[in-house]
Amino acid sequence: MSLFAIGDLHLHFQSELKAPGQRTDKVWKNHEVRLAENCRRLIRDTDTLVLAGDHSWGRNLAECERDFAYIEALPGRKILLRGNHDMFWDAKKTAALNAGFSGRLFFLQNNYWPYRDENGAELALVGTKGFTFEGPFWVNRYREVVDWDRDAEAHARKIVSREAERLRISFEAAKADGFTRFILFLHYPPTSILERDSAFTRMAEEYGAEQVVYAHCHGASRFHDSILGEQNGIRYSLVSGDYLRWVPQKIL
Ligand SMILES: [Fe+2]
Ligand SMILES: [Fe+2]
Repeated sequence: MSLFAIGDLHLHFQSELKAPGQRTDKVWKNHEVRLAENCRRLIRDTDTLVLAGDHSWGRNLAECERDFAYIEALPGRKILLRGNHDMFWDAKKTAALNAGFSGRLFFLQNNYWPYRDENGAELALVGTKGFTFEGPFWVNRYREVVDWDRDAEAHARKIVSREAERLRISFEAAKADGFTRFILFLHYPPTSILERDSAFTRMAEEYGAEQVVYAHCHGASRFHDSILGEQNGIRYSLVSGDYLRWVPQKIL
């Protein structure tokens, strides 16, 4: 039993493709075929695969049907996070999604997933969409950030605190059920390019999460926007699909 993660499938089997980069950048060419092949090579049916948000360009559930069929056909148990492009997922209706897809897909928000590792140890997979300030930034000729949009930053802070509340609900639900080991999944990176820590990194430390796994960053210029590797005893990994070149990352 292993745990894998990858994010940002941005499927569009039946909906309009809205990102020009996905049409032109060769890392995206037939990405759904390459991902499915890599999943079948690496992941067994007893494994768990966390899909870290931005699953589909569909605007509602009906427009995502074929995308969900593709996801359901991937091997392993699939746990889905909410990405900023997942218009099918009303944040207030996660329970309805879980009821509708019961036994097929699990939607992670305001809840947790109990995971048992190879040695029988139990961990809680907790998570939320997250959020972080993404600019606009102004840079000088040395590409150093010299200023940023303060209003946008203030607005971002509100969304961060709402998402931090959702994350606490997830941690507390697992803790109430006796879990003491956690892996934290976010769609957004845990910190902005201005930060070394955030509400999310502090909460990860507060609850003793072992790893923080996030996605959302596309293109080489964004891959180093946040924490990669170890910080304060926690391992941080970026798992956006184009960063991983469509090879799911083994988390445990
Ligand atoms: Fe994305
Ligand atoms: Fe995203």
